[in-house]
Amino acid sequence: MLCTNLVGFGLINHFPSTAKVKALVQRYIEAMHTQHRIIIGNSQQMTELDNDSVQLMVTSPPYPMIVMWDELFCKADPKIAELFQKLDANGSKETVRQIYDSMHDHLAKVWQETYRVLVDGGIACINIGDATRTVNGRFQLYPNHSRITEVCEKIGFITLPYILWKKPTNKPAYKGKGAFLGSGFLPPNAYVTLDCEFILLFRKGKLRKFPPKDALRYESVFTKVQRDEWFSQIWALKGTRQSAIEMERRTAAYPEEIAERLIRMFSVKGEVVLDPFLGSGTTVKVAIENGRNSIGYETDKNLLPVITKKISHHAADVEIIHR
Ligand SMILES: C[S@@+](CC[C@H](N)C(=O)[O-])C[C@H]1O[C@@H](n2cnc3c(N)ncnc32)[C@H](O)[C@@H]1O
Repeated sequence: MLCTNLVGFGLINHFPSTAKVKALVQRYIEAMHTQHRIIIGNSQQMTELDNDSVQLMVTSPPYPMIVMWDELFCKADPKIAELFQKLDANGSKETVRQIYDSMHDHLAKVWQETYRVLVDGGIACINIGDATRTVNGRFQLYPNHSRITEVCEKIGFITLPYILWKKPTNKPAYKGKGAFLGSGFLPPNAYVTLDCEFILLFRKGKLRKFPPKDALRYESVFTKVQRDEWFSQIWALKGTRQSAIEMERRTAAYPEEIAERLIRMFSVKGEVVLDPFLGSGTTVKVAIENGRNSIGYETDKNLLPVITKKISHHAADVEIIHR
């Protein structure tokens, strides 16, 4: 029946070899029974994953220099906590620079591990926002997107054209009204508002190759309308809905639409998607819904109920591993 379908849809030749049919059927069956692993542990070391075993990475890390993530970075690296103490005691511009560098060093270890586990031709998608912050009376931009790009290039990734996620909800508010940073309507001291985040795209090695008319690849097809919208540079999408539960908001969850577009743009059904900063579990949920296998790492075990609730409506094969 399955073979009839594959032939009927023109996905394989009329007289393929037995080995070829067997391989195709095996891939098809595997794709229908996706597997998902949630690992409560630090993704700086993904010891559970072999080299060259993941086709796609989709993630959003904690953003360096955004206040809500200071505590996480301090807990993860005592050197960062010490630097913050120095800062309170009248730290210098150099101390701020060291904090920023150390936060990116923390993330870099995950990008390095991602490179190891990705297959040749695998894609990494990193959602990141730049930060603005006033430290010791000095306001400035911390361009996280350019730092991550530089780090990933040093690791060996090839940088691809990125996406700008324009968030209508990001405008700062003052007394309930929209407001811009700086001095009202008078030049020259006002600042531009950051209302875009980046979705950085990288590839490991050369383009991936597939056999002609590969069944699962053809099954993963998107429409022309989707292609035109998804592969354009600006995505105007709302942030996570306001009704999201508190815990989900605390993880700064990205909208499912972002994960879905990226998973469908850069992976084929039955392949493996990794999220090394899983948060509330959005990537795993969307992977299940789109016939991909997935692996998510999360250090905060308090998020496990949020993750399991998010995927509870799906009859998927999910394994939870506590390190
Ligand atoms: C921005 S949130 C991810 C939000 C996620 N995209 C979602 O939709 O819910 C980043 C998450 O990474 C986790 N995290 C930070 N460092 C980590 C590490 N080294 N290994 C695993 N998880 C980490 C944090 O606890 C946090 O939940």
